[in-house]
Amino acid sequence: MTILQDLESRLGAALAAALGEPATAAVTSAADLRFGDYQSNAAMVLAKQRKTNPRALAQEIIDRLDLAGLATADIAGPGFINFRILPEAYAAKAKELLGDSRLGVPAIGAGKTVVVDFSAPNVAKPMHVGHIRSTIIGDSLCRIARFLGFTVIADNHIGDWGTQFGMILHGWKHVMDAAALEADPIAELLRVYREVNAMTKADPAVLETCKNELVRLQAGDEENLAIWRKCIEVSKRGLQTIYDTLDVRFDHWLGESHYNDRLAGLVDEFLAKGLARESNGAVCIFSDGVRKPEEDPFMVHREEGWTDNPAIIRKADGGFLYATTDLATIEFRIDEWKADQIWYVVGVPQSLHFRQIFEAAERWGKKGDFRHVAFGSILGEDRKLMKTRSGDNVGLVEVLEEAVERAAKIIAEKSPDLQGEEAAGIARTVGIGAVKFAELSQGRLTDYVFAWDRMLALQGDTAPYLQYSTVRIRSIFRKLDSPFEAMSAAIVLNEEAEIHLARLHARFGELLPLIVEDFRPNLLANYLLELARAFHSFFEACPVLKSDGPVRESRLALCELTSRILVTGLGLLGIKCPERM
Ligand code: ARG
Repeated sequence: MTILQDLESRLGAALAAALGEPATAAVTSAADLRFGDYQSNAAMVLAKQRKTNPRALAQEIIDRLDLAGLATADIAGPGFINFRILPEAYAAKAKELLGDSRLGVPAIGAGKTVVVDFSAPNVAKPMHVGHIRSTIIGDSLCRIARFLGFTVIADNHIGDWGTQFGMILHGWKHVMDAAALEADPIAELLRVYREVNAMTKADPAVLETCKNELVRLQAGDEENLAIWRKCIEVSKRGLQTIYDTLDVRFDHWLGESHYNDRLAGLVDEFLAKGLARESNGAVCIFSDGVRKPEEDPFMVHREEGWTDNPAIIRKADGGFLYATTDLATIEFRIDEWKADQIWYVVGVPQSLHFRQIFEAAERWGKKGDFRHVAFGSILGEDRKLMKTRSGDNVGLVEVLEEAVERAAKIIAEKSPDLQGEEAAGIARTVGIGAVKFAELSQGRLTDYVFAWDRMLALQGDTAPYLQYSTVRIRSIFRKLDSPFEAMSAAIVLNEEAEIHLARLHARFGELLPLIVEDFRPNLLANYLLELARAFHSFFEACPVLKSDGPVRESRLALCELTSRILVTGLGLLGIKCPERM
């Protein structure tokens, strides 16, 4: 049980006693430590309902509150109840966490299956920085959800059946360089795509040929299907190298094409069930009139007022769309994988699409908790969308390479004794960690500015700072003559810096469940920074190796716990820690 849960259950009991009926009360961690560690507005909420004096009710609750061994309480302002946790309660908690491989994190996801839909680049199209966000946020959410006990299915829903294949097929037959494809499939497919794209602009006849290639592919032409398959295969291989660099893994790669066979039947079913109807030859899903137009994804406000904004699931020419595939995907994930939740980590511009398919799925009777985990854009230091000098979107690979190069330079400067493979390995860990942390420490909806120097700084709100903190703790233990047995140490907290460190240790298990409520890995990132800062203050104020006896044992145990939480927490963000740096 976390300290917060303990407070809530004791407060609930006191409340029930005061009111003479069962009651629950929410406790939150206090924003300002001067007023205590936790607080509750339960008395104010209840007093309002019962039209009594909130401060008097708060007093009545406190009188009945059994906080023995845990905290003290007082009333503040209009009727807040503030709790201050006793140092011995934090000490007991730290002791408990040292013996707990879950570090106090409750398994709130046990028994629930969640599909995380992330990364999902489009084959033969550039994977741009926007895909970095999806890949990094999605991977971190998978790790956090797994740690919380969810059964997580990471699915890479790649765009492997788009109109781009018309151009790719034509290019494959006429301008493909087989050796280049072998060496760097993603780059060569992209080059081919761009070259053919330029050809279609110059010569409308080429555009016609490309369209015909696409039609033949969709009609099941063997030659084109074989090329398409090969194309997907080499692309996946290329993508896999990037995911390996990032240490990102998927359980499945069920791309859009996986659902092809289901689309025609799905549209028929929607028509038969009256969930969709024909409009100008196309099959569309319309508003059912239940919601207010402001909240209805199938309505849009135009000059003439509120008008229909249907989702098309079959075009007049018989072709299927993104929405059709996504509906088939929802059905599959619920029926085959028994998904209770699906999290889509996709940029803000697709929010209407997701509102529409979530609503359509619900009407269709596909029940589940579907969430669009949206994110904003990445901006260059000029605050414009990040571009390379040639004006292209910056590719993911370039960003990662540059991060590692820059990290290598910094390491060579700061730690010249590190050499060769070891130095190169550390540069990878630090460079990639820095990119991930820069991403994950931002609120996902804000557009964030990609600033190299800021993300790689050793002092600052960065991954290198956190990694360096873990290295520093390791070096304390390296100085010991014999291995330290944290489990046998008694924890005593006397100094303010020690108490604060233990306070943060106790918060880890309270914080993680909050992250999956609204998908904010930045809460974890910021918590880790706070923990590292608390550690450095503690380390300055409280001698560890130079102290003796039980104080030394206790402080070493605090170091160990800090290190374990930092390493675990960074691991949940997908960031590794080097042994040295
Ligand atoms: N391939 C899409 C894109 O790059 C993202 C797919 C997201 N997932 C989904 N189920 N729609 O924009």
